Amino acid sequence: MSEKQTRAEHRSRPTSAAFRRFVASGWAPRDETPPAAAKAAPYASRRREQLSAAFPGERLVVPAGGLKVRSNDTDYVFRPHSAFAHLTGLGADREPDAVLVLEPTDGGHEAVLYFRPLAGRDTDEFFADSRVGEFWVGARPTLASMAAELALATRPLEELADSLAKDAGGVRLRVVRDADAEVAALVDRVRRESGEQQATEAAQAAGQPAEEDDLALARFLSTMRLVKDEWELEQMAQAVAATAEAFDAVVAGLPEAVRRGRGERWVEGVFGLHARHRGNGVGYDSICAAGDHATTLHWIRNTGEVREGELVLLDAGVEVDSLYTADVTRTLPVSGSFDDTQRMVYEAALEAQQAGLEAVRPGNRFSDVHAAAIRVIATRLHEWGLLPDGVDVETTLDAEKGQYHRRWMVHGTSHHLGLDVHDCALALREDYLDGELRPGMVLTVEPGLYFKADDLLVPERFRGIGVRIEDDVVVTEDGCRNLSAMLPRRPEDVEAWVRAGGRRG
Ligand code: GLY
Ligand code: MN
Ligand code: MN
Repeated sequence: MSEKQTRAEHRSRPTSAAFRRFVASGWAPRDETPPAAAKAAPYASRRREQLSAAFPGERLVVPAGGLKVRSNDTDYVFRPHSAFAHLTGLGADREPDAVLVLEPTDGGHEAVLYFRPLAGRDTDEFFADSRVGEFWVGARPTLASMAAELALATRPLEELADSLAKDAGGVRLRVVRDADAEVAALVDRVRRESGEQQATEAAQAAGQPAEEDDLALARFLSTMRLVKDEWELEQMAQAVAATAEAFDAVVAGLPEAVRRGRGERWVEGVFGLHARHRGNGVGYDSICAAGDHATTLHWIRNTGEVREGELVLLDAGVEVDSLYTADVTRTLPVSGSFDDTQRMVYEAALEAQQAGLEAVRPGNRFSDVHAAAIRVIATRLHEWGLLPDGVDVETTLDAEKGQYHRRWMVHGTSHHLGLDVHDCALALREDYLDGELRPGMVLTVEPGLYFKADDLLVPERFRGIGVRIEDDVVVTEDGCRNLSAMLPRRPEDVEAWVRAGGRRG
C-alpha cells in the first residue's frame, strides 16, 4: 500500500453540504465505451499461464506496490514492480496499490486484478483527496474498462483481504514480498490466522519456511523473464531507438555543455529531456562522466565540468512507457578527436567488446561473453606493461592466481536487460551466469578500462581516462543482433559523429 503522507492542518477543503452538492453536479456523462484490449494483453496472459503451470493449486499474489513519499506530501512518480508489469502488461504510472492474484481453479488459475477503481463524483475523494483524487491526479479506470483493457477479471481493492483469506486453510499462499510490505504483511497474517498455518508448519518442518515459498515465486518470475517474447523484443527495439536519438542530442549539445559549465548536468538534462519526451523517462540515473569521473563506474552525481580535450562517458537508457529500458554507453572525445592514449585505450575496449559480441550465440554460456572480452583486456594490459612483473596473460586470467587485470575493469561484461536494467536478478547461477544463451535473451556487452587519476601503477598519460562501450543485443538462432548498432562505435566514426554535431554518417 502507499506510504503515509503528512496531513497538514493548515490546508482546508470546503465541506459544506451545499458545496458538496455543487461540486458533484454539472459534469458531462463519463464515456463508458470499453477500451480495446492492450497489445500486451495476450502476451501477459501467456506469461500468467506459464506461472500457473508452475504453481498448481496455489494462490499467487503479485502486488504493484504503492506510492512512495518523496518529501512531505509529494510522492515519487509511480512505477509498478516489474513482476506486476510483466504479468499484467501495465506500464508507466499504473496502478498504485493494485494487486494481481492468481486464484487456483480446477483447470489452472483465474487472474483477478484488485485495484482502486474510479471514484464517483459524489465522493470526497473526487475533489478533496490530493493523493488519489480525480481533481488532483486525474481519473482512474473503472473495473469494466480495466477488465476490457487487460482481458482479465477485476475487483475493488477493498475485497482483497477477504479474498486472500478465503479457504486459506487449504490453499498455499505465495506473495512477491518486496513489491509491497503491507500486502506481504497481510499474506503473513492470513497464513498465521488460517489453517494454512498447519501447512506452513509442515513445510517448515521440511525446511521450507514461508519466506522460502515466496522466494521461490520471485525466483520463478525473475527466471521467466530471461527469454523475451516478440512483444518485449519490440519494446526493447523502441527503447534503443529512442536512446539513440537522445545520444544524438547529447552529442549535438556538447559545445553547449562545455560553454555553460557544470556540463555533466547539461548532458544529463539533454538526455533526460529526450527520455521523458520519447518514453517514460530514464531507465536508471544517467551516468554523465567527464574526465576522471568516467573512472567511477556509477558516477550519477554529474556535477562536473565537460572540458575540451577530455572524454565524456555517457551511460544512459530510455525506458519506454511499457517500462522496458535500453542501457547504452558511448565514450566521446569532447573536441572531436581522441589523442593517442585515449585512442589506444578506446581501441582496446572496442576490441574487447567485439570479442564479447562474437561470443553471444546459442550454445555458448552467458559467462563465455565475459571470458572473451576480458581476455582482450588482460592481453592489452600485459602488452602495455601494466600487470605486475612476471605475471603473464594466462596467469592473470586464472581465477585463483591473481586476476590483476580486474583492477582496471572490476565490473562484469554483461547483464540481462529488460524491465529492469539489471534484469532477472534473482535467477540462479545455473540459469544466469552458467546458463546457455538462448534466442530471445537480451543482454548488454559492455567492457571498459578505467585508469583513475591517482593510480600510481600506470604511466601518467593513462591517468584520468575511463572508457566503456556498451551495446544491447538480442540472441538470435545463430548469433546475435545488435539493437544499438545504429550508434557509432569505431573511433573514427565516433569522431565524425561528434564533429558533425550529432548527425550520424
Ligand atoms: N548502467 C549500468 C550498467 O551498465 O550496468
Ligand atoms: Mn550502462
Ligand atoms: Mn549495463
